[in-house]
Amino acid sequence: MANSALPIILILNGPNLNLLGQRQPEIYGTATLSEHINAAKEKAAKLGFEVETLVAQSAGEIVSAIHGARSRCAAIIINPGALTHFAWSLNDALATFDGPKIEVHLSNPATRDPWRHESVVAPVVSGTIAGFGANGYKFAIDAVATLLADKK
Ligand code: DQA
Repeated sequence: MANSALPIILILNGPNLNLLGQRQPEIYGTATLSEHINAAKEKAAKLGFEVETLVAQSAGEIVSAIHGARSRCAAIIINPGALTHFAWSLNDALATFDGPKIEVHLSNPATRDPWRHESVVAPVVSGTIAGFGANGYKFAIDAVATLLADKK
């Protein structure tokens, strides 16, 4: 459970990302999701943030987590997996969240199948980090820290 004294960054991961490390390593690398999250947590701790995480196989679970983050979390980092490309309920939910929102993809969907080229969450996030593999979640923590510092 998060230490409520520190601002909380919620890291959301969508379907099939629990299989990182086993799933198409030639595209997604050999690190597991836990390894990515732990690296992000380490970075966040150094910058004075607490991290909460959810790995969900359905859009509804992610929508509920976004609702729960409103007025409670400082920022959201989200890799919606394939939901990125069609789950408009994520767009609506993210639009209700006021803090920085960073979309992360390990691969670069723009270089892959045409159906991956559209992100339905892109219009409502602060920015997107894609194609940096293992570094993506860490870069996203840096982005959150910068955006929150700029707001002060
Ligand atoms: C992904 C890219 C999506 O197109 C894909 O469906 C995923 C992973 C990525 O991190 O590169 O599941 O979000």
